[in-house]
Amino acid sequence: MKHQQLLADEVREWIDQADRVVFLTGAGVSAESGIQTFRQAHDGIWKQYSPLDLATKEAFLKNPEHVLAWYAERRAKIELCEPNNAHLAIADLQSRKTVTVVTQNVDGLHQRAGSQSVIELHGNIISESCLDCGATDHETPHDMPPYLRYCAFCGGCLRPNVVWFGESLPEQAFSTAVDTMRQADLLFIVGTSGEVYPAAKLPEYVDKKCCRIVLINPDATPHAQMADAFFGGKASELLPQLLGEYA
Ligand code: OAD
Repeated sequence: MKHQQLLADEVREWIDQADRVVFLTGAGVSAESGIQTFRQAHDGIWKQYSPLDLATKEAFLKNPEHVLAWYAERRAKIELCEPNNAHLAIADLQSRKTVTVVTQNVDGLHQRAGSQSVIELHGNIISESCLDCGATDHETPHDMPPYLRYCAFCGGCLRPNVVWFGESLPEQAFSTAVDTMRQADLLFIVGTSGEVYPAAKLPEYVDKKCCRIVLINPDATPHAQMADAFFGGKASELLPQLLGEYA
């Protein structure tokens, strides 16, 4: 096992050599902004609530006010959070490299940090879309009851603009993410448990002959098996060290 400092020097060389740097991110990248992850043992969202009651179409149809109240609460918390040094370091790298962020996060923090090319695989919690015709609504969702609003085009119910369990990912976002992986020179996988498909499968699309993979996570996830380098720790500490101007 290489000493972490030697490995960091090597990763900085890979960054120097790369043109296209891609980040596949998950909830862990926003953890230090104060946003709950989903699967962590002590405080993950899905340890506290059942996704079947809150993140499925069936749950919404059964009790829309209950589901929408939960999303309104999460949205309100997210609006109070700020991007952390991980989001900022990724955005900063754009001045030197072609950077694309492929994220499972719905919090919009990469964009707020200044990242310009962000592919949202699981949608965005800030807006709502129509359950029937799929149109995105551009008004601000209600932050108090009654939460349920209706589509301006077809009158259908508006729902959070996120992907729920049992639903497919937005086709365009996923196919662009696959192309992005294929063209990557260097891939960072940051803050994701790698348990949710098809997002977790994306690293398999990189060209292993020319693309290196760096994993950043406090825990070794299933992606560790395909990583060229693994840094065990927090994204907001490790990313500025690896991506910064090599102080
Ligand atoms: P998870 O909650 O499954 O995993 C979060 C990962 O972040 C774990 O592997 C943690 O070890 C790691 N982590 C925690 N703190 C970190 C830190 N400070 N720095 C770096 N890593 C840290 O979250 P996701 O993998 O994003 O789907 O979950 C994938 C999807 O499952 C989510 O997008 C969501 C959920 O159901 C939808 O909402 C559609």
